[in-house]
Amino acid sequence: MSRDQKFFDMYSLVIGVLILIAVAIFVFSMKVSDLTQGVYTRDAAEYQASVTDRIRPVGQVYLAGEEHESSAPIVETPATPEPVATSMTGPQVYNAACNACHGAGIGGAPILGDGAQWTDRIAQGADTLNEHAVRGFSGSTGFMPPKGGRMDLSDAEIEAAVDYMVGQVQ
Ligand code: HEC
Repeated sequence: MSRDQKFFDMYSLVIGVLILIAVAIFVFSMKVSDLTQGVYTRDAAEYQASVTDRIRPVGQVYLAGEEHESSAPIVETPATPEPVATSMTGPQVYNAACNACHGAGIGGAPILGDGAQWTDRIAQGADTLNEHAVRGFSGSTGFMPPKGGRMDLSDAEIEAAVDYMVGQVQ
């Protein structure tokens, strides 16, 4: 009888210790997850954004005249076609790239159509004018940037613009 009692006591003690260890591990893991999940999961911007997204209201009420962005219809923007590499004409290039300076003579630029300012320049010959327009030129009145600063334009387009400018001189 006493041996049974002894076995029972020992058995309860072992079970009790095991339960204690299990509880301790459980509590410890809860604590660890509390410390880590908060920092690495629940406070993470992506996690919070995904929660906000999941719990956002299905619809919203807007009164007439109220500003709101979300109701703007979602329009599929058609893919913009690749710009076809067409070259611009002389006047087009002039308006887009040269008029800023040559229209009003900014920075000493010879004004479009002003004979007095152009005759000497034209006398240099078309090749020189083209070269100065394409490569840039620093003369007596100011600085002409290469291609008027429009390096995306082709040499031929610049030359067409020079041609146009020369043609405007009376
Ligand atoms: C940032 C201002 C500016 C822009 C933009 C500009 N030019 Fe000029 N250009 C000048 C100036 C300043 C001169 C005069 C330089 C000098 O003689 O001292 C000049 C001179 C010229 C000359 C005369 C060069 C010579 O040998 O006398 C030609 C031709 C010319 N530009 C063509 C063009 C063309 C074509 C464009 C557009 C693609 C253009 N320019 C855009 C400022 C500009």
